[in-house]
Amino acid sequence: MKMIGVLVILVIILVFTSPPPPPESEEFGPVFVREPDDVVFPLDSDEKKAVMHCEARGNPPPTYSWYINGTEVDAEADYRYSVIDGNFIITNASEITDYGKYQCQAENSFGTILSRDALLQFAYLGAFSGKTRGGVSVREGQGVVLMCTPPPHSPEIIYSWVFNEFPSFVAEDSRRFISQDTGNLYISKVQPSDVGSYICLVKNTVTNARVLSPPTPLTLKTDGEALRFIAPLHFPTSVLAARGVTVRLECFALGNPVPTITWRKINGNIPKKARLRKSQAVLEIPTIQLEDSGTYECKAENPRGGTAFKGHLQVYTLPQWVKMINDTQMDSGEKLQWECKATGRPRPTYRWLRNGLPLKSQGHVEIVNGDLIVHKVQQTDSGMYQCVAENKYGAIYSNAELKILASAPVFVPNPIRVIATLGKDVSIECKPRASPKPRIIWKRGDRRIQPNKRIMLLRNNTLRIVNSSRADEGSYVCRAENQLGSAEMTAILSFVLPEAMRVELSPIRVEVTVGESVVLSCKATHDTSLDVAFQWFFNQKPINFQQDGGHFEYIQTHINVSETSVILSILLKHAGKYGCRAQTSADTVFAEAELLVRGPPGPPGVVIVEEITDATATLSWTRGLDNHSPISTYNLQARSPFSLGWQTVKTDPEPVTGDMESAIAVELNPWVEYEFRVVASNAIGTGDPSAPSRGVRTKEAVPSVAPVNVSGGNGRRHELVISWEVGPLQAFLCSKTKTTNLQKPSGSGVWII
Ligand SMILES: *[C@@H]1O[C@H](CO)[C@@H](O)[C@H](O)[C@H]1NC(C)=O
Ligand SMILES: *[C@@H]1O[C@H](CO)[C@@H](O)[C@H](O)[C@H]1NC(C)=O
Ligand SMILES: *[C@@H]1O[C@H](CO)[C@@H](O)[C@H](O)[C@H]1NC(C)=O
Ligand SMILES: *[C@@H]1O[C@H](CO)[C@@H](O)[C@H](O)[C@H]1NC(C)=O
Ligand SMILES: *[C@@H]1O[C@H](CO)[C@@H](O)[C@H](O)[C@H]1NC(C)=O
Ligand SMILES: *[C@@H]1O[C@H](CO)[C@@H](O)[C@H](O)[C@H]1NC(C)=O
Ligand SMILES: *[C@@H]1O[C@H](CO)[C@@H](O)[C@H](O)[C@H]1NC(C)=O
Repeated sequence: MKMIGVLVILVIILVFTSPPPPPESEEFGPVFVREPDDVVFPLDSDEKKAVMHCEARGNPPPTYSWYINGTEVDAEADYRYSVIDGNFIITNASEITDYGKYQCQAENSFGTILSRDALLQFAYLGAFSGKTRGGVSVREGQGVVLMCTPPPHSPEIIYSWVFNEFPSFVAEDSRRFISQDTGNLYISKVQPSDVGSYICLVKNTVTNARVLSPPTPLTLKTDGEALRFIAPLHFPTSVLAARGVTVRLECFALGNPVPTITWRKINGNIPKKARLRKSQAVLEIPTIQLEDSGTYECKAENPRGGTAFKGHLQVYTLPQWVKMINDTQMDSGEKLQWECKATGRPRPTYRWLRNGLPLKSQGHVEIVNGDLIVHKVQQTDSGMYQCVAENKYGAIYSNAELKILASAPVFVPNPIRVIATLGKDVSIECKPRASPKPRIIWKRGDRRIQPNKRIMLLRNNTLRIVNSSRADEGSYVCRAENQLGSAEMTAILSFVLPEAMRVELSPIRVEVTVGESVVLSCKATHDTSLDVAFQWFFNQKPINFQQDGGHFEYIQTHINVSETSVILSILLKHAGKYGCRAQTSADTVFAEAELLVRGPPGPPGVVIVEEITDATATLSWTRGLDNHSPISTYNLQARSPFSLGWQTVKTDPEPVTGDMESAIAVELNPWVEYEFRVVASNAIGTGDPSAPSRGVRTKEAVPSVAPVNVSGGNGRRHELVISWEVGPLQAFLCSKTKTTNLQKPSGSGVWII
């Protein structure tokens, strides 16, 4: 069994996620813009110049040098070398002198960085040896291997075989197989049609150059029959491939009858994406993944027997960054800790470079599991740092600049004005630009400030004064000093009085209808450092929200602007003045709003009977409250001994509109005692009635209708019982003399005299 890993040139595209270029004036160490890539240089190219690219930016602009196999190249020493804009150019490049690993180095005054390795290879394809090839003679049914024996070449070549004459190619099938590993042509069982001349054709995968071998003639022997047999081919047992490439595993056997080939994976399944090619002889696994690693078995069988081969496929991955390092600025004396982390299979190892040279744990530098720690960084630690993560298949670089700042203290701006609220706490910052960190002292005038209970020096150099008073007004000086110099900043502190609190009650005047709700908001604008408490009043009396909960609700929102609300399910009695009092420890403010309630009118004033006839009464009254909605009509009502309570009476005019204050009740009955009252209505409803007028009797009159069904009789001795019936509410005179004996008066019934 033969297993072949197909080499795929993996192009690694590095994405440079470098920060945007800093402003022109800012100086910084070199940063690669382009690093050299692996190059396969065709030897037969006209151009005769191999170029390895490299570009870095930096301020000042970087200079370049190159390394071959880890040794610096002296570009002057060899006339074939030149370095132009960082690119390394080799004229008349050849494999013998120039094959190798190339690295570019970029350097400026801030430091040096080394690029990744790039391999310079050459592509070429030599000629087959011109020697005539001997013929091969086999019995029919026998197996045969025709050797290609390719000429020198680089990198890979593709093999095919020409049968008899170009361009007639050997077609692969279950009987014939061309190994892309050895280039040999395998015919498992020769047939008469195989007789002819065979030429191996090889093609360079980079240059596409092709060359043909001398022909090998194949003839058939006639001396007897071929035996049945099976002959396995010998294959390598281990294949190594990078994740993502396509892997081809080859397996073939000679035999009579032609062997069949089957594949399986030990302890697993052949990946679904895998395909069988060339009549089962090739198992092709595209974009292999780590889980495709394992042992694969191929079995060749014919009736004579069978034979199985095992091969191990191993998948590796190049290192890939998980955590990279970034440019860092520090004051000297601080601790630097850089972590760099990558994945890969095998697991990557780490090493560090400073300015292109290996960095080891030594002195204040410590390297632990790939992390770099520099205790108490010093000016001399500045430079370009690189973390390299590598396994045996490749290395990746993460680069960063370490700047150790060095400057005498500078204050910008200076002096500063600090305006604070009297009585509050005051903080005055002191933040000079300086490196290393300066020592700070605060002064008032010439005297150094000694911290006490009220004046404090915070760790971050801020001067803090609590419970400020007028006496604290004036100049304060912060003095900063380090090895490189000193500077002073003046802060001029002055005070303003605390801002007075304001409250705003809204709406300030509102009209609502009975049953509706309203929200009154009380906003207090106040000093945010103070807590505010609210109290509500109705007509100067504090509202107790627990007690009046059915009608009032209290909500508080916000912190600096506080809000209080009253929600009322309004009754007429809720009309009035609502007050909001906001109180802080410093201040109390009060605001008042007016709530008007629209409701049915109140009762009209007293009703006076101005004039009375037998059927009419002239009434007058005074207006009652309209409760904020104009009175639309009045309703006049009367009550008499003969009526069922209060009844509406006809009036003149009809209807009685809200602007009137008198009207005539008509169609009254004569000689009846009446009381009158008035009820007002507006758009919202009908109000309570006025108090009744005093009783008045209408004048007598001739009955307009005679009693009916008058009858007599049935009395006791000395009695006459007369019965009659009258219409409703019709009063008339029956007997003026015997009224004292009148009993049970009613609209219809029996009068006993
Ligand atoms: C190119 O290199 C070959 C050998 O590598 C040498 O024979 C030849 O003279 C060189 N040509 C030039 C122009 O340098
Ligand atoms: C670099 O190293 C490789 C492998 O060790 C070697 O074949 C090649 O000749 C070297 N190249 C040069 C220019 O020294
Ligand atoms: C480095 O910078 C990149 C992007 O600017 C950020 O995603 C990453 O977290 C940084 N690494 C560290 C260690 O700060
Ligand atoms: C200084 O420290 C105090 C208290 O820790 C903090 O409130 C203040 O914001 C700090 N000031 C500065 C400039 O960092
Ligand atoms: C600040 O003043 C308040 C009231 O005036 C007082 O209660 C408090 O103790 C004072 N704090 C200090 C640190 O003096
Ligand atoms: C209250 O705070 C808000 C944001 O939280 C701010 O926009 C507003 O100006 C503040 N109002 C006052 C009076 O401080
Ligand atoms: C008078 O009496 C008769 C019989 O009792 C009755 O039918 C009639 O309706 C009565 N008339 C009136 C006006 O009550």
